[in-house]
Amino acid sequence: MVRLSTPVLAALGLFADRAFGALEVNLDDPESIKKAAAQVAEDLLTFYHGDEPGMVPGILPGPPPDGDYYWWQGGAMWGTLLDYRHNTGDKQFDDLITTAMLHQAGDDQDYLPSNWSASMGNDDQAFWALSAMLATEIGYTDPPDDKPQWAALAQAVFNEQTSEDRRVPSGRCKWGLRWQVYSTNNGYDYINTIANACYFNIGARLARYFHNETYAELATKTWDLIDRLGYISDKWDVYDGAHLPDCTDLNKAQFSYNAAMLLQGAAFLYNYTDGAQIWKDRVDNLIDRMIEIFFPAPAHIAFEPSCEYQQCNSDMESFKGFTHRWMGTTMQVAPHTKEKILPILKQSTQGAVKQCTGGNNGRFCGFHWTSGVWDGDVGASQQMNVLGALVSLLAPDVPAPLTKKTGGTSKGNSNAGSNEAKLPTFAPITGGDKVGAGILTAVIIAGSLSAFAWMSLD
Ligand SMILES: *[C@@H]1O[C@H](CO)[C@@H](O)[C@H](O)[C@H]1NC(C)=O
Ligand SMILES: *[C@@H]1O[C@H](CO)[C@@H](O)[C@H](O)[C@H]1NC(C)=O
Ligand SMILES: *[C@@H]1O[C@H](CO)[C@@H](O)[C@H](O)[C@H]1NC(C)=O
Repeated sequence: MVRLSTPVLAALGLFADRAFGALEVNLDDPESIKKAAAQVAEDLLTFYHGDEPGMVPGILPGPPPDGDYYWWQGGAMWGTLLDYRHNTGDKQFDDLITTAMLHQAGDDQDYLPSNWSASMGNDDQAFWALSAMLATEIGYTDPPDDKPQWAALAQAVFNEQTSEDRRVPSGRCKWGLRWQVYSTNNGYDYINTIANACYFNIGARLARYFHNETYAELATKTWDLIDRLGYISDKWDVYDGAHLPDCTDLNKAQFSYNAAMLLQGAAFLYNYTDGAQIWKDRVDNLIDRMIEIFFPAPAHIAFEPSCEYQQCNSDMESFKGFTHRWMGTTMQVAPHTKEKILPILKQSTQGAVKQCTGGNNGRFCGFHWTSGVWDGDVGASQQMNVLGALVSLLAPDVPAPLTKKTGGTSKGNSNAGSNEAKLPTFAPITGGDKVGAGILTAVIIAGSLSAFAWMSLD
């Protein structure tokens, strides 16, 4: 479509607020924030086609080169929309969300559908689990009994990632969670922060939700491991990861979602332990450093220093929104942090909404929030970012994440997860190979009927 410039349209008398209006919002007024968030959510869903005939529910167009997005970003989008629903009360997307999150749970009810093996990281699987965990905590409508339940889905992923075959067997980074699930994928030897931080985060939240120490121990063990490996520096910088065999080649790139994932998990453990000093210190130190690195003074607008000076890829382009949302939850479970976090998130969001002035309806959001000028860099990630920012400001005023004891209704299953002992190592599936690969999978699953033995780890 050829875009007419605003003056031309104004001259034609076509300058209507609805069709060509930059996003208008007063961040001091919750109703105004809700209205703006609804518009950003609506624009976000223009990138989603999974509800159209013949399309696969749950996913954004991709993976590259077929579209911009990997599988995990669908999971992240439903999480963003769940936070939106909880923080604004708008339930209009419930059918979309439920259909998507149940479809992608896959045949084994563990967010590991074989369609996506070629790019399946433990972090990818975890992002869907994080959305299931969020559904659990906000009291989102439970699926019918014959469908997988939200809490059990989160447990399934956590259990599978606890199992030995996802982890490093020996050496300096023993027990580290690998980035990739399958040994045939590049990155199987990368022991990265995000995969381990997602596992830590889910464990912390399962501990709090079920009041179960086993999860807290496994989460704590993960923190201790990546801390010992130097992924969290003395200055509370959070690095991206390192490779086998020793995990000594630290990749010191800093992305906001790594730190934010750890922060949110630490805040849940702080809450679960009734305010233990060690978790309070970790929460407070992470926040201070995150503000310095990712919300630089004086403007305090979210910025990704490790890619934004050059070019962030479409994964990296989605981190600001997660960071906002997870800092939002942090204010709920560690209320003393609100004083520090909320003013920063507000300044950042003010920068964010200034990016929402372009595209075909005049209010699509760009990516470079610090620039103050629409950059034309639009997409689902950019919409999710601004949506995450807007709803994060509402977090302190809505109910905190539920637990089993405070009204959570989602049914758990501590044995959830499939028995896959060794995963099939087939090449990415092409049409003709499909039947063969399916049979291979069936043989392997049949051969591993032994009980899933994650509890006998030590
Ligand atoms: C897997 O791919 C097939 C074929 O496109 C599709 O019908 C199915 O819904 C997909 N399943 C998942 C979980 O994405
Ligand atoms: C834990 O979270 C609840 C909200 O669920 C909050 O009221 C409570 O103060 C938190 N505990 C601590 C120690 O901050
Ligand atoms: C805690 O969780 C573990 C792991 O899922 C489970 O085996 C155990 O039975 C749970 N404990 C309680 C008291 O529910």
